[in-house]
Amino acid sequence: PVPLITLNNGVRMPQLGLGVWQAGDADTERAVRFAIDEAGYRHIDTARIYGNEAAVGKAVRESSVPREEIFVTTKLWNADQGDGSTIAAFDASLQRLGLDYVDLYLIHWPLKGSDRFIETWLALEKLLASGRTRAIGVANNKPHHLQTLFEHGSVVPAVNQIELHPHLPQHLTREFDEDHGVVTESWSPLGGSDRQGWGPASKPNTLLGDPLLTGIGAAHGKTAAQVMIRWHIQNGLVVIPKSVHEDRIRQNIDVFDFELTGGEIEQIAGLDNGQRVGKDPDDFV
Ligand code: A2P
Repeated sequence: PVPLITLNNGVRMPQLGLGVWQAGDADTERAVRFAIDEAGYRHIDTARIYGNEAAVGKAVRESSVPREEIFVTTKLWNADQGDGSTIAAFDASLQRLGLDYVDLYLIHWPLKGSDRFIETWLALEKLLASGRTRAIGVANNKPHHLQTLFEHGSVVPAVNQIELHPHLPQHLTREFDEDHGVVTESWSPLGGSDRQGWGPASKPNTLLGDPLLTGIGAAHGKTAAQVMIRWHIQNGLVVIPKSVHEDRIRQNIDVFDFELTGGEIEQIAGLDNGQRVGKDPDDFV
């Protein structure tokens, strides 16, 4: 079974979930249904900008598992930041999902010029108080972004979802999050997708075929993907690998019957090259 991580407001979040970025409606609905009904996932991560909230919601609603046993995250898109526009965007997300509440609502990116970002955070605090989201948080925050929220808000974000994988272990942000009671969640935990036409450059995924990771995997009868997911788990991170393929969806949750050794974790640390697959949060305007 997938361990639960307790957030700073007491809400419990499954440490592993299914990501659905870049998945169209049909693939999303099928993948989410399979993940919940057949593979044992209880946590789905979507966003307004992914365009597939309706498919996620339909699969969650029509699955054989009660709504309250599934953890659903969605995110506020940049264009909707601001006080009233945030509330309206949240309402629209709930409507598309066809749900009465979400478990976690995140601000997708910090925007430069902190006033709107702060206003947006205060709007999320109102949503939290309304009970329509069980927790609120941010994504792509560096320590200086979080510092701004600590200064102006009254709720500490429960989660900071950031790009994180063996090429980009994000030590500084993780340590800052931990010091402030913010759970770090990893996006592109396997190093992202080949088809990624977004970010500073469209880079092929070199981690899934990395000889060190496949070698460590072979020693445990596991794949490089499973080694990476296990690495996130043992690092105390929440992890949301994306796949629309049934065999991979199953494979990615089959990581609770082995353990990486201290030596293997040390070797994986050698893959840190500081390379992002997505945008640098400071580059958003
Ligand atoms: P697909 O949906 O075609 O399976 P991320 O790091 O963003 O989670 O990206 C994972 C990428 O790797 C996705 O493009 C996904 O594509 C693919 N993928 C997911 N799980 C596996 C796996 N177990 N083995 C190989 N590729 C995978």
